[in-house]
Order: sequence, then C-alpha cells, then structure tokens
Amino acid sequence: MKKITIRDIQKLKGCDTPFATITAYDYVSAQNADAVDIPLFLVGDSAAMVVYGMENTIPISMDELIFLVRAVCRGTKKALVVADMPFMSYQASVEDAVRNAGRFIKEGGAGAVKLEGGTPYKSQIRAIIDAGIPVMGHVGLLPQSYNLSSGYRIQGKSKIEANKIIEDAEAVQESGAFAVVLEGIPEDLAERITKLLNIPTIGIGAGPKCDGQIQVYHDILGLYGDFSPKHAKRYGNFGVEIQSKLAEYKNEVEEKTFPTKEHFITSKTPPEKAQ
Ligand code: KIV
Repeated sequence: MKKITIRDIQKLKGCDTPFATITAYDYVSAQNADAVDIPLFLVGDSAAMVVYGMENTIPISMDELIFLVRAVCRGTKKALVVADMPFMSYQASVEDAVRNAGRFIKEGGAGAVKLEGGTPYKSQIRAIIDAGIPVMGHVGLLPQSYNLSSGYRIQGKSKIEANKIIEDAEAVQESGAFAVVLEGIPEDLAERITKLLNIPTIGIGAGPKCDGQIQVYHDILGLYGDFSPKHAKRYGNFGVEIQSKLAEYKNEVEEKTFPTKEHFITSKTPPEKAQ
C-alpha cells in the first residue's frame, strides 16, 4: 500500500478537484479516515478541546500530543500524518522548534509538522526543514494567539490585515513549507493567496477557492457537544447516537436482558462429587 508523501500533497496544487483533509486524534479516527482515502491527517492541537476537554489550545503540551500522534500513526496505512506544534514548543527559539519537531517525527512517527504564524517564524520553519522535517504553515486566524486577538475572530477584513496575511503566506512558502493552512479569512483573500502561491492552500473557514479543505473530525461528525463552529458542516450527529446506544446498553443490563446466551459460555465444570 502506497504511503502518501509531501510530494503527493504538492501535486494537488491547482487541481480542478479540491482535496479534503481532516484532523485525527486516535487509532480509530485514523483508521476511519484512511478507509476513505483522505490523504492528510493533522493531529491538531485542537485535541486540547476535543480530546482533553481544555478551554482552548494554549495549555496542551508536547507529551499530550505525542501520545495521540503515535496512536494516529498506528491507525494510518496511507495518509501523511502531520503533527501540530503546540503553543510554546517553537515560539521561544529555533532550537526549541527543531528539537520538538524532531520529537514528533522520532517518538511520534509523524511525517511532517505544522506550526502557526508566518513572517516571525521563518527561521524556525527553515531550521526544521534543514533538519529533514517537512513543515506545513498556518496563517490567518491563529488559535494559539487567542489572548492577543481577544478570542477567535475572522482575520484579514481590513486592507492592512489582508496584506499582512499575504506576506505571512509568502514567508511560509519562501521558507520551504510544502503546504499552508488558511484559517478564518474572507474567501476573496483566500482565493488571492491560493493564486499567488505555488504550494497547496488548505482552508478552514476560508471559503471554497482553496486547493483543499481541513475540518475537525469531532465537528463534522457531531461528536463534541452542541457547539458547532460556523466553518463546520455537521455530516452526522454521532454524539447523540452514542449516548442513545449507551443508554440502551445500560437499560438492558439493569433489566437483565443483556448478556444473553450468545454473549457468554455456559459452565462446563463438572458438578462437585458428594463426599
Ligand atoms: O488544531 C487544529 O485542529 C488545526 C486545524 C483545524 C487547522 O490547527
């Protein structure tokens, strides 16, 4: 079975058919997405919320993500697994960036890493690539800058902001990234950046003109409470489905209708001899 490489992802630039990518956080989600030939899985720092129940992506650690990266890699035969560099794993220094990216590859088994931010992180992106590790960029709405941007807000609405995002995207490409996520920006800006760059753009809340799309597994399957971000379409409501099946199981145990004979073996122990 052929494993998807960064070169395969780069070939998707400018194709008439956009490509779908998805986040994955464990063995089962990876197996499910691999079964339908999704070419790239991101072990996103969104795991902070959907796996660990944190309020935002700021607190998640390298170790908390490495466990998930390992599980995703075990469940993946074909897709390229990209590990998301968490907050403060690369911002403070180039050394941190290379060492932590290396951990995702060496300990986690990922094929690439992603990091948020453009122009200010050119040295980090270059140094990680020089160490032999492919990098995917991420510009526009940057969830790790939650405090600086006073929450999650669409970016690039003004001319100044839009120009800054274009510069960031170009900086990411110049530094050698193989693809870039465009998050939370107006569709015309995403289209402009997509036309400008030679690397694939992967949009989330950035409209349909990107080369590909990415979505959070739990958002599109309705696994994560009632909240549904604007950029996500719910293709299922499996959270509710799971709760109803768990309630059925609980009731059957309480009513003694489970387990039935097909779910256990009857004792073959001979009766005890009378003394
Ligand atoms: O962490 C994440 O899930 C992400 C994307 C959705 C792009 O960064």
